[in-house]
Amino acid sequence: MNQDWSPDSWRQRPARQLPAYPDAAALAATERQLAAWPALVVPAETDALRERLAAVARGEAFLLQGGDCAESFDELSTANVTDTFRVILQMAVVLTYGAACPVVKVGRIAGQFAKPRSSDSETAGGVTLPSYRGDIVNGAEFTAAARTPDPQRLLRAYSHSATVLNLLRALAQGGFADLHQVHRWTADFVKRSPQGERFETLAERITDCLAFMEACGFDAASAPQLHAVSFWTSHEALQLHYEEALARRDDASGRAYGGSAHLLWIGERTREVDGAHVEFLRGLANPVGVKLGPKVTPDELLPLLDRLDPQREPGRLVLITRMGAGKLPERLPALIRAVQAAGRTPVWCCDPMHGNTVTSANGYKTRDFANVAAEVRDFFAVHAAEGSHAGGLHFEMTGQDVTECRGGAQGLTDASLAERYRSACDPRLNGSQSLELAFMAAEMLKAARR
Ligand code: TRP
Ligand code: MN
Repeated sequence: MNQDWSPDSWRQRPARQLPAYPDAAALAATERQLAAWPALVVPAETDALRERLAAVARGEAFLLQGGDCAESFDELSTANVTDTFRVILQMAVVLTYGAACPVVKVGRIAGQFAKPRSSDSETAGGVTLPSYRGDIVNGAEFTAAARTPDPQRLLRAYSHSATVLNLLRALAQGGFADLHQVHRWTADFVKRSPQGERFETLAERITDCLAFMEACGFDAASAPQLHAVSFWTSHEALQLHYEEALARRDDASGRAYGGSAHLLWIGERTREVDGAHVEFLRGLANPVGVKLGPKVTPDELLPLLDRLDPQREPGRLVLITRMGAGKLPERLPALIRAVQAAGRTPVWCCDPMHGNTVTSANGYKTRDFANVAAEVRDFFAVHAAEGSHAGGLHFEMTGQDVTECRGGAQGLTDASLAERYRSACDPRLNGSQSLELAFMAAEMLKAARR
């Protein structure tokens, strides 16, 4: 398989969005260092995710993917990781119960550092400097020193990711993810939320159900699966020097695996079929995501799927549509039909964030909760109408109480954005908005599965 592929064959292809490092020798030394270090994830975990995603594609499970737009080196803290993980777990409980189906939990975390930019450079006050491409490449500050791509940042991204992953693994297995505990947080949230009554019934049913299971003798000792979760990581595979250096050949299977995360995705701006990013990912055994914007056509999509998944491996492809509120009914059916006619069963996932970014009157990049919710609703409706599975949701979210997206039960306004706008990149749902969406999505998923 893939005899014409190698971890560096992407270098023969046109590569968009890669930084121009001024010191090629320093870059090469860093790549050698990364290549010598252990991969952050191992093939057995990645294979397990691929199998779970195959279940999602068959309609037997649901994918929940969430985390920051971009992680930043300065924001590494226990609270940051823990709060985001807690909210993902809370969302997962609600979806698991509402849909009565397992939820595959994937973080957009522990490696989500590189950002695609519309321009290679930025001019301010008569000075032109390279664009900020995420902490793995350069610094955001508008100085020549900060903006010069620095290969040392690849090593820092690795350490940062390893640290986050270490904490996530401990939280996932060490009792933090206990079902009772996670649901207690949600019950508290429902009590405090201004629109709590809307979710009270569902939350109370989960409480009753847990009490019933406990009465029947299912506790952490007799049923360890109540006490722990499987959690996988993902990020956009944009910085290919980093991704190549962490790719590893698995001795057992002979296949190449990306070692930076379990699931890697290709962005809307780097998915051309002959480009470097598609070339790199096609040779890996990992599940691969592809972001699909409103302009993608079936003619463009099918060759891409053939290139990325020639063997039609179950659980290999995750198609992440990000089209904007109101666009799915018009654009999505043709894609679904083409994919069905080609005999493919990818996971269909909805990113209701990236097609709904606007600028507020007071100058903040924001998103309206109502538009995010509308795109999710359309996603379920269109897939139901086309006889296809609405397989998952992809959110930019944080457990922190930020004010970056407008609306939701807290009624955030333009004025609220000025209070706690922390994102260096795109606006994220806060903990409350994320959970609200999970409750809404649980109802839709339940209806879809009837
Ligand atoms: N292990 C099961 C699962 O992952 C049940 C579970 C335990 C769970 N803790 C959880 C589910 C937290 C969601 C969130 O589905
Ligand atoms: Mn983003």
